[in-house]
Amino acid sequence: MTAEVETDPTQGAALSGTELAAVRADFPLLTRTLREGRPLVYLDSGATSQKPDVVIDAEQDFYTQRNAAVHRGAHQLAEEATEAFEAARAQVASFVGAEEDELIWTTNATAGINLVAYAIGNATAGRGGEAARRFALAPGDEIVVTESEHHANLVPWQELAARTGAVLRWIGVHDDGRLRTDQLATVVTMRTRVLAFTHASNVTGAVTDVAPFVARAREVGALTVLDACQSVPHLPVNFRELGVDFAAFSGHKMLGPTGVGALYGRRELLEALPPVTTGGSMVEVVTMETTTFMRPPHRFEAGTMMVAQAIGMGAAASYLAELGMDAVAAHEAVLARAMLDAVASVPHVRVVGPLDTANRLATVSFVVDGVHSHDVGQVLDDAGVAVRVGHHCAQPLHRRFGVTATARASASVYTTLEEIEVFREALAGVRAFFGLDDGRATT
Ligand code: ALA
Repeated sequence: MTAEVETDPTQGAALSGTELAAVRADFPLLTRTLREGRPLVYLDSGATSQKPDVVIDAEQDFYTQRNAAVHRGAHQLAEEATEAFEAARAQVASFVGAEEDELIWTTNATAGINLVAYAIGNATAGRGGEAARRFALAPGDEIVVTESEHHANLVPWQELAARTGAVLRWIGVHDDGRLRTDQLATVVTMRTRVLAFTHASNVTGAVTDVAPFVARAREVGALTVLDACQSVPHLPVNFRELGVDFAAFSGHKMLGPTGVGALYGRRELLEALPPVTTGGSMVEVVTMETTTFMRPPHRFEAGTMMVAQAIGMGAAASYLAELGMDAVAAHEAVLARAMLDAVASVPHVRVVGPLDTANRLATVSFVVDGVHSHDVGQVLDDAGVAVRVGHHCAQPLHRRFGVTATARASASVYTTLEEIEVFREALAGVRAFFGLDDGRATT
């Protein structure tokens, strides 16, 4: 598919037809067809992205040329594997504005957030000695999240609160899905020890203005934990510039493999944080009675790591860096406008999230009056359009909007305006399919 250069006066330009065709040629899966020979229109990148050849090749190259355990062999393959693994860490770290020793491999963003929560729990239990006392929670201390979080950035904090006697509080959302930044002054107090919040909602697509969150957390001496799994694939992100203490993201949403993600932590915090998963590869001296631990990042990487996947994630970061995240974001801003316009053109369809494209991802959740989101998904699937349906692992946010489920179309750098048009046409036929009305869009 090709697209002409499209411009949005406020957001910049989409990739040109030639550029986009070149990008799409990198993704083998995008050429496959579905039932009845329909071309795939993949609008489920918020759940997981498709993978370019460079990522698939990087994993294949590792297994066919370099496969060995890292950081433990004395042979050439082990050396090459270790070099490739650490080079991937450097690629991913530089992609998000971190130093190499500030980036810990995890299995995904969920694991990264859990790592921080469990490490704080261990500090609370007295592990990590004097250095870790700064993390310890006491009954009545407060952990603050937002109503916009997906379960990965909510449930670990509920559990930490239950284990430590801390109290969980949250910032609300406005009717358009934007966070209630105005509540920071009252919800985040001198008792707040952790402020965990999303950089971009996987439901509303709203992108958080991080600065006031970091500023308020610093005022009260709280740690900030950023869930960046929806932002890193779509926007230029620099954790040091954002000033957050910790940030977690996944490889599979940013064109990389499944089974790998990363946790960023400011070096001085990681130095003081006790480990969570213990065992081989993260220790210095082990006796039958006790153990001393390595410095970060290895202190948090027990056991054999997901080496091939980490190398694949490094390749994904390099691929995106080469495209340029400003260009990626500009392209996706044009897609966001087109998706919002598509949904607005169909009667009886309501968006759950902001209607403007400023600080917004090309992730659009919506409700079709009278039709359950699963049925919406089925009709769209009949047209070859893949969307996610359900609560998107964000039940409280759906409850906030008075719905149990939505359908969600989410784009990525390889999405075209022609695909959005196929989506629009299919959406226009949903209510008619169920005999509700002809539901046709005005063209
Ligand atoms: N990763 C999940 C999604 O947004 C929560 O699809």
